[in-house]
Amino acid sequence: MHDITRGENSPATIVAAAKPLLAKLVQRPDCVESKFKKRGATEYGRYMLHRAPRFNVTAVVWGPGDGAKAHNHDTWGLVGVVENEIQETRFRRLDDGAKTGYAKLEVKNVLKNSAGTVSCLVPPDDDIHEMNNVSDRNTVEIHVYGKDLAEMPRLRFDVANDSVKTFASPKYQNC
Ligand SMILES: [Fe+2]
Repeated sequence: MHDITRGENSPATIVAAAKPLLAKLVQRPDCVESKFKKRGATEYGRYMLHRAPRFNVTAVVWGPGDGAKAHNHDTWGLVGVVENEIQETRFRRLDDGAKTGYAKLEVKNVLKNSAGTVSCLVPPDDDIHEMNNVSDRNTVEIHVYGKDLAEMPRLRFDVANDSVKTFASPKYQNC
């Protein structure tokens, strides 16, 4: 990832190069330590595994019924499923963002990403999704992003009401 991101600013280029590496990693259930495969006490688990200047690697654990409403990332990203599966809904934004608080999204795809799958986020036009664990078990993922998303303002969409607000993810459980 250091080699891939060094001197490279194109999200599409970075994601294309990183995808096969993460796909190989998530083939191994032991690629995440068991202490980072636990859901949080009150919400989904988030753990920082590796911080670097131009990317970071986190583990995310969705319990049954956990999810994240439609949101953007404001950076490139890869989401690899290590255990179980996740339902991912991908959206296209139809408006130009000029009207404060307004956003019109259209569903592109509803995917069922099983273990071994890597999903890619490529801003600015393909980085809005919603995640839902509709199964009865924990889902373990590895996320790789170009920015640290903890406490970083970004967008969360209310798709049914055509509205958008800023939000920020909380800090990680382990640091
Ligand atoms: Fe996301």
